[in-house]
Amino acid sequence: MREKLYEGKAKIIYSTADPAIIVAHFKNDATAFNAQKKGTIAEKGVVNATISARLFALLEHTCIATHYIDQIAPNELRLRKLRMILLEVVVRNIVAGSLVKRTGLASGTLLDEPLIEFYYKDDSLGDPLLNDDHVLSVLKLVTAEQLAELRRLALQINQLLKDFYLRCGISLVDFKLEFGFDGADQIQLGDELSPDNCRLWNLEDGRILDKDRFRFDLGSVDAAYQEVLQRVESAT
Ligand code: TMP
Repeated sequence: MREKLYEGKAKIIYSTADPAIIVAHFKNDATAFNAQKKGTIAEKGVVNATISARLFALLEHTCIATHYIDQIAPNELRLRKLRMILLEVVVRNIVAGSLVKRTGLASGTLLDEPLIEFYYKDDSLGDPLLNDDHVLSVLKLVTAEQLAELRRLALQINQLLKDFYLRCGISLVDFKLEFGFDGADQIQLGDELSPDNCRLWNLEDGRILDKDRFRFDLGSVDAAYQEVLQRVESAT
């Protein structure tokens, strides 16, 4: 009855009897650096599906529209099908990762205001950074009004997730969001909210609890994912 619609690096998407609803099956496979590095993280599918479910529910509770419907298996979510916007929206609170390379600022520098960046979602180009003119006039990915809404939503989501992770004893350094349009052309938050697309640093000692442990071979990858899951579960 269900048919595989698409297989990505971290998820398989299945159809359901309702054309407006899909199932996302979260895999244990992990990739980094545009899939140049490949591996698996034990139980990652369960961890990422469960953390995503909890965080989508938290956002929905605060009236942020997301594609989330429910968790139907430890590693599967039912989601509303969206027409995805080809942008990766990155929000940063603390300097890390590619922002270190782009600015020369020290990793760990606190930003005065959250920084929002838009990247073009295109693996063949390596997801390049775009400015507003690239987004609006050249690629025409969204309208100016929609871009303003993406910024507003990204900042609102950042505030909610930052506060939530603080309650978990975790600093939300940065994260990536993807949005899409629902059947009524309203913007909804899509994709996932997991340690795969966030940087999460332990408040107490700065210990890295996210996919950077896999990217840079820091060890204890599975344990870090489990630790985030446990803290998220006890705070929701
Ligand atoms: P960056 O510092 O490498 O640009 O990453 C910024 C944030 O975006 C970080 O939380 C990791 C996340 N991210 C993804 O989710 N997918 C990606 O392909 C990349 C490069 C980053």
